[in-house]
Order: sequence, then structure tokens, then C-alpha cells
Amino acid sequence: MLEEHLDRLWYSAGKMDMPIDFTREEIITEITRVLTQLDKENVYIRLILTRGEGEIGLDPNLATKNNLVIIAIEKEENPTWWYESGVSMIVAHIHRNPIDALDPNIKSGNYLNNVMAMSEAKKLGAFDAIMLNVDEQVTEATTSNIWIVKDGCIITPPIKAGLLGGITRRSLIKIAKKNELLIREENFNVDELKSADECFLTSTTKLIVPITTIDNSPIGDGKPGPMTSLLLKLYKETNKI
Ligand SMILES: Cc1ncc(COP(=O)(O)O)c(C=O)c1O
Repeated sequence: MLEEHLDRLWYSAGKMDMPIDFTREEIITEITRVLTQLDKENVYIRLILTRGEGEIGLDPNLATKNNLVIIAIEKEENPTWWYESGVSMIVAHIHRNPIDALDPNIKSGNYLNNVMAMSEAKKLGAFDAIMLNVDEQVTEATTSNIWIVKDGCIITPPIKAGLLGGITRRSLIKIAKKNELLIREENFNVDELKSADECFLTSTTKLIVPITTIDNSPIGDGKPGPMTSLLLKLYKETNKI
């Protein structure tokens, strides 16, 4: 889904008024070069584009030419226990940014409140943290989108709740609709989150990971649910993973 990731890079740069001096083709050529050099089957790639170098100051015009950093490392398989037992989450005290402060749908390196939420989760021995918006509605986890299943319906918060439009999220919505599953983009609060029948995370690197406890209380029967397993199967089949 390289094209989708590059679309998001261009969208995000546009939203922060950051010109991109590279063409898409140049970036693809560089990624391909790095991948060829690394020569591994399963690779994690992080693309970092900066405004570039210049005098110290906030004025974006001080930097005139982007720097592009491509980090590629061999990616280990995700631990099987994530999928077999599910993961434990907390609801973080720190909130996700409001859209009119710093829209979380802009993918940038400005993740400090997510880092702090993750730190809170790690101190409590949890896998990750779920973040709310200032209206106390659920948004997403620190680097994944979040979903619940309630009475057979799959629900994920809408982008306007203040979250990153994940590429896995978009793909899964399409797959669910194609398979005539009930799916809605709708707000839900912490009570609705914790009383869901199933709950799971999505991201490019994690795919679909069941959440089996939140703040130490079990979700559903405390085991990965059947809809989550079905969606993982459909996601892998559709995207040939
Ligand atoms: C804040 C946040 N939400 C959601 C996601 C999942 O997005 P994707 O499915 O595109 O990997 C990420 C991934 O980096 C993220 O950083």
C-alpha cells in the first residue's frame, strides 16, 4: 500500500505547509534502493521527511530544502500471543489533540502526548494506551486505530473524533462492506468501549490485534472474539499477507 502511504505523506505535508521537493518517483526509487541493499523478506520502513536545515527559529521559511531519511530494518514476526491471547490496554489520562489544535489526521513526528500515554501504559504493565478526545470520546491508541464489536456491528470512531486515518482502517472498512458485514464509523465513550463484545487494534505493522482487557477488566469473555478473528482472516486474504 505504498501509494496510500505516499498519499498520506503528501496530504500531511500539505496541511502543515511543508513543500516536498522530491517527486513520488524519486521517493519510490530511494525506498527501492534501500530495500534492495537490505535484501530481506520482511522489512519495516520508516520514512522521515524534514523541512530541512537552516537558521534556528520557528519560521518554516528558514529551511529551504527537505531532508529525506529512510530507515529500513528487518522486521521480526509479531509475537503469536498478541493474536492468540489478545493484549491489555489502559485508557490514558492524557488526551489526543483536538482537531483545531493539532489535527491528529496529520501524520507528523509531533507525538509527545502519544509518547506520554504509552509511557503511562508501560508503567502499568499494559501493551498500549487508548486515548480520548476532550469530549471524552474514544479516538485511537498511540499508534493504532481502535474498533469495537457490539451486537454484531463493527464500530470505529470517525476521523472527526480526532485520530489518524489509518491505511489499515480504510482497507478494513472496505473489506467489511464488501463482505456485507455491519460496519459504522461512530463515536463511543469509555463505558461503551468497556462493555463491547469485542475490541481490537489495527495498524500496518500489527494488522488486527485483539484487545482482551482494558484497565484490567475483561472485554467480552476476555478472549479474542470471533468477529476479530474473521476480520484478520479476511484482511490477510484480501491483502495477500
Ligand atoms: C496515531 C496512529 N494511529 C493509527 C495508526 C495506524 O495507521 P496505519 O493503519 O496507516 O498503520 C498509526 C500508525 O502509525 C498511528 O501512528
